[in-house]
Parts: sequence; structure tokens; C-alpha cells
Amino acid sequence: MTRKLFVTTALPYANAAFHIGHIMEYIQADIWVRFQRMQRDGAAGREVHFVGADDTHGTPIMIAAEKEGITPQQFVANIAAGRAQYLDGFHIAFDNWYSTDSPENVDLSQSIYRKLRDTGLIVTKTVDRFFDPVKGMFLADRNIKGECPKCGAKNQYGDNCEVCGAAYQPTDLVNPFSVFTNATPVMKPSEQYFFKLSDPRCFEFLKDWLNTPGRLQPEMVNKVSEWLGEAGEKLADWDISRDAPYFGIPIPDAPGKFFYVWMDAPVGYLASLKNYCDKKGIDFDAFLNDPTTEQIHFIGKDIVSFHLLFWPAMLKFANHPVIDKLKVNVHGFLTVNNEKMSKSRGTGISPLRYLDLGMNPEWLRYYIAFKLNSKVEDLDFNGEDFVARVNSDLIGKYVNIASRCAGFIAKRFDGKLASTLSEGAQSWINRALTVDVNGVIVERQASIAAHFENREFGKALREIMEIADITNQYVDENKPWILAKDVEKTAELHDVCTTALILFRQLTILLSPVLPGVAKNVASFLNDAEFTWADTQVFGDAVSNSMLGRTIGAYSHLMTRMDAKMIEALFDAPQTAATIAAPAGDAANDAAAPAAAAAAIEELAPEIKIDDFLKVDLRIAKIVNCELVDGSDKLLRLTLDAGEGRLRNVFSGIRSAYQPEELIGKLTVLVANLAPRKMKFGISEGMVMAASAADEKANPGIYILNPWPGAEPGMRIR
Ligand code: 2FM
Ligand code: ZN
Repeated sequence: MTRKLFVTTALPYANAAFHIGHIMEYIQADIWVRFQRMQRDGAAGREVHFVGADDTHGTPIMIAAEKEGITPQQFVANIAAGRAQYLDGFHIAFDNWYSTDSPENVDLSQSIYRKLRDTGLIVTKTVDRFFDPVKGMFLADRNIKGECPKCGAKNQYGDNCEVCGAAYQPTDLVNPFSVFTNATPVMKPSEQYFFKLSDPRCFEFLKDWLNTPGRLQPEMVNKVSEWLGEAGEKLADWDISRDAPYFGIPIPDAPGKFFYVWMDAPVGYLASLKNYCDKKGIDFDAFLNDPTTEQIHFIGKDIVSFHLLFWPAMLKFANHPVIDKLKVNVHGFLTVNNEKMSKSRGTGISPLRYLDLGMNPEWLRYYIAFKLNSKVEDLDFNGEDFVARVNSDLIGKYVNIASRCAGFIAKRFDGKLASTLSEGAQSWINRALTVDVNGVIVERQASIAAHFENREFGKALREIMEIADITNQYVDENKPWILAKDVEKTAELHDVCTTALILFRQLTILLSPVLPGVAKNVASFLNDAEFTWADTQVFGDAVSNSMLGRTIGAYSHLMTRMDAKMIEALFDAPQTAATIAAPAGDAANDAAAPAAAAAAIEELAPEIKIDDFLKVDLRIAKIVNCELVDGSDKLLRLTLDAGEGRLRNVFSGIRSAYQPEELIGKLTVLVANLAPRKMKFGISEGMVMAASAADEKANPGIYILNPWPGAEPGMRIR
């Protein structure tokens, strides 16, 4: 049967660089896609389109752009420009990377909306919303802070309290204020557009859709069934509108109203595919309407409701052909040592740092694949396990085969493999590549293929490593390095090394969805044009026949062992103390940048323009007085003269490094335009600057800045 596949991963918000969780999801999807691309339906390759896009709309991106003084379009373009280094770096081969802020997405989203409206599933309701009277905009839950109605903790968001964990409505907050202007929000009625998920048609449809065999993982069917309730009574209408100002897609015939970001985000899958089809001359509508087309989503467990309730209901009632083709694969989160990753605990992993450290992206692809299954389970990253797994499997088992045998083919046989194989060799090949299942000999590649297809990557790799084990056993028993010492054993040496390389080639083909870079190098070394899954079929001696008598190229090293020290450098340094002597003791951590523990210096902050730098007003200041602070073992109280005709009071977390009397009379550098900060001990009116090492545990010194002679209080540093 010919399969046509349209594969997607969740569209990342265009407000930040990729984090390691994105990379994990993309690697999972990329492995599956590469496996599919190796399949041949008839003579042609399988049609597989793997597309992604940035999820660009919504208030946070609008506000972030405003803060940078650029348009949201420029903001998301800057983020988009940074994507390739991650994708290329980890061999993630999307066919197209696009944007939800695109003409295709506007057309497709508005068209879906119009159809939903025509079928009576869009309703309007007037609801009271918090409004910032200074900024002139409605506020999302996270744009409002105040005191928790349960425990009274200050500065809590409008949806839940980070201190006591209570969940509530923004209207429940005591003394609420807008995070943008600090203004007290007012209630303002607003007409909102709702997708009528409570309509019985939605429940009827969803319950059947969810239960279609092969569409969802069983645990997801159960979870979403619970959300539906017995008769859909738990389904509430979904507010799909936001008021201007909003960075989004206008709702047709509704001036000043925009689609909520989650309404147009999944449509972005289709927009990216359409954009790709148009570029490639593929008929988009024909592809989507083709009965053999399947759409496969890879998503995380946190965004299930959007993909398994709203999105299918939207597609269904907009009469979209994709609805019958959709399959959704949900994965868990990436944890570190079985805990949520945390920058401050030093368990955050930066994908770019991984690459910058020179760590091989295929190590990570292998490890992630090894730990993945088809269930909605978290995937735990453990540094020691990572090193052990990679070094033992990839280096000790797989690469080792070629490195022990290829040299002899080059040196002793002019690069030519044997033209025939001994019976013994052929039987080892069969033993490695087939297995007896209840008295029936079956090819391992078939079950490995089934594991890849079913996203049981860990099982696939275990079985592949069994082939590597048998191959190594063969090499160990036949000892080519001993055979090479005896001229009379030349034919035997040729036989053994040819056999080992035949099996090495098989292992490479089976591993190529996971290790595409290595596979490419091996293909070039073995003079193969391209590997397809058909090359793994063993019956009829096809595997060996294609290699016998072949001249191969020179072997060059394929992969190095991982040095365990790299793992230390990989994680964020735990944020223990200030890297800058800041006005507040603990608050100093707010200014601390993440640091690479074993890197020579702390990672540089993102590049800035001179205008950004000039926003910080640095002045020479004289320390006219300095004293200990009662009740604090971290702070010193500095009285500073910055030439302003007044003195400033500044608290600095440098007590561990200086006695007050050492500092009195010295000149230093003051951040003079920092907003005054109210602290337990008084108001701090600025911050003095100091240097410290990234790893303060290993190198605890703090060094206050002191200008060259001649500088005077009040001089600006530029
Ligand atoms: O959770 C997120 O990161 C969303 N940006 C995912 C969107 S997936 C799809 F709907 F676009
Ligand atoms: Zn609380």
C-alpha cells in the first residue's frame, strides 16, 4: 500500500529559543520520519512531509516586542532566524519551517472559523474582564498580580498562588494590579466569541473519534474520555476571541476582535504544509483529500486538551478532510535524575551549550531514542547513564566492529571485500540477522521496523544491539588481528573482515533513522549511494550479495567516546550566590546569568546594541562611608557620592569579601539609574559592580571595581 504522511511537532512559541524539551520532541519525530523516508512503496520513496512553524501570536510576544521597541513581526523574525542552528545541529530535518503569522494561516484560520459559524457553533457572550485603564487593554490572567485570596502572599498571578498552590480567578485577587503599569484593573464588559463545545454534536463526534482504533494511545483515550464526562456535561464553551490590542488574526466580521492564539496555532500545521506544497508544486488539496494520507502529530502531554478536544472538533465541524487522518502521539516530559529540570538546582540543559561543548548530537539522539517508548511516560536523563550507554553501545559495540576490521581490508586487500563467503561466515550472518520465533526463523529487521513504526525506539535499539553483540562475538572468536599475522590465513582474514563489515553495514542501515550523520559517512565509506530499508532484507543472501567483491573507501574514525567530564559542563551551574554585588542580598540572584560550570568563563549574554548598553548609566562614585548591616551576614551598607550634590545609600552583597574600613575613601562604579529598591534594612539607591567567577563554590572571590587614578565622582562610564 502507498502511504502518504504529513508529520508535525507542536509549534513552539516564538518568544524564546528552543529548550531541550523541544529538541527531544523533534528528535523523536525526526527519527520516525527518517524511518518512513527509508521505506519504498513500490519503486518510489514514501511520500513524507515533515513540517513545523513558529507559534507567533498572543499577548506575551506582543509585550516582549514592545519592550524591545520593535514590531511583533520583527520580534518573531528574529526568533525564527535562530532556529536553524538547533535543527541543523541535532540533524532535525523538517521539510519546511514556517510561521503562524502568515497569509496562508490567516486564510485557513478564517475559513475554518466561517464554516464553524455557518454550522451554528460560534456564539457570543458578554463577559466582564479585567482592563488596564492606563495601558488601555484587557488583561490576561498572567498579566494581573495581587495578594493570594487564600494565604495572603503578595505578588501572585491571577490564576494561581505560587506560595500555597491555590487556584482561583483573577477577580479573587486582593489588591490586584496590572503587571504592565501597576494600575488597579477595572472590570469592563466585553463581547467574546465562543466555540460551542457544549453542543451535543461535539460530544457525539468526539467520543467516536477518540475511540477510533489506532488514533490515540490507550491512556489518552481514557484521559480524554474522562474530560468528556458521561454525556458531554463536562465540555464547556471555549473562548476563542481576544480584544485589541492583540497580536493575532482578525476574526472576520468582528472589528477589534482577534483569534485567541490557540485557535490559529494548530491551523499553522496546515499553513506550513500549504506553504511547502506551493513551493514544491504539490497539490495541497489533493494531498489532504487523498484517502491514503495520514497526519501524525507529535506533542507533549501538557497540550493534550487543545489537540484532542478543540482541534478535532474544529476540523470536524469545519468539514476539513484532515479530521479522519489525524493520529496523535503524546510524549511525557524530559526529567533530570527523575526530577523536573531546574536552572537553579543546576539540572537545566541548554541545547546550544551541548553543541558548543563539542558534544556529538548523535549521542543525544541515541540516548533519547534508547529511552523512548510509545507511552505517555516521562523520559529521564541521567548523566552517568548517558555516558555509559553511549560509550558502551555506540563505541564499544557498534563502531568497534568497523574499527577492528576495516583497516585490514584497506591494507591487505586493496580495499576490496571478498567475492565469496565461507559457509561459516554466511551462517553467522544469518544468526545475527534472524531469530527463531517459536520454531519459525524470522528476520530481525521486520521486528525492528515494527518497533520504529510503533515508536518503540528503545525496543528497536535493544534488538539492534543484539545484532552488534553477535557480530562482536564473531569477531572475538575469529580474531582478525591474529589471522593477520599468518600469511596462510589471508583468505580467512578476508572472509572474517568482509563478514564483519557486511554486518556493520546492516547495523548502520538499521541505526540510520537515529544516527543519520554516521550513516551518511558509512554510506560514503562503503560506496553506497543511499540506504533504504529494503537493504536490510536478509533472505536469499541479498545482504551479503550486495557487498561481495565491492571495493570500499578508506575507513575514517566515525565517532569518539564521550568524556564524562563533559557532563559537568553540560548542566547549568546551580545558582548559589550573586555574580554581581547587587543592592539586595538574595535579590542579587535575579541578576545572575546562567553559568557553564566547567567552561573557562561564564556564557556570554545575548548580543546587544550600543543603545541597549547606553540605557545603563554607570557612574564613578566615592565610598564616603561603609558599615556592617545589623541582621545581615551578606550585606554592607555603602554611602556613596556620585557627584550629584547628595549622598546615596546602597546595600551590596560583598560582606564576605571586604571589611568596611578597607573600602572607605575608595572610588568604585555605581549603576546610577537602577530603580530604588525597598529592602528589609532600608532603601537601596543603586548597585555597585563587582566581578565573580561563574562557579562561586570553587572560586568564591568577589572583586569590587576600582577605576584608574584621575577618575572623579560623577563621571559617566561609556
Ligand atoms: O505549548 C506550546 O508551546 C504551543 N505553542 C504549542 C502549539 S501547538 C499547535 F497547536 F500549534
Ligand atoms: Zn496563597
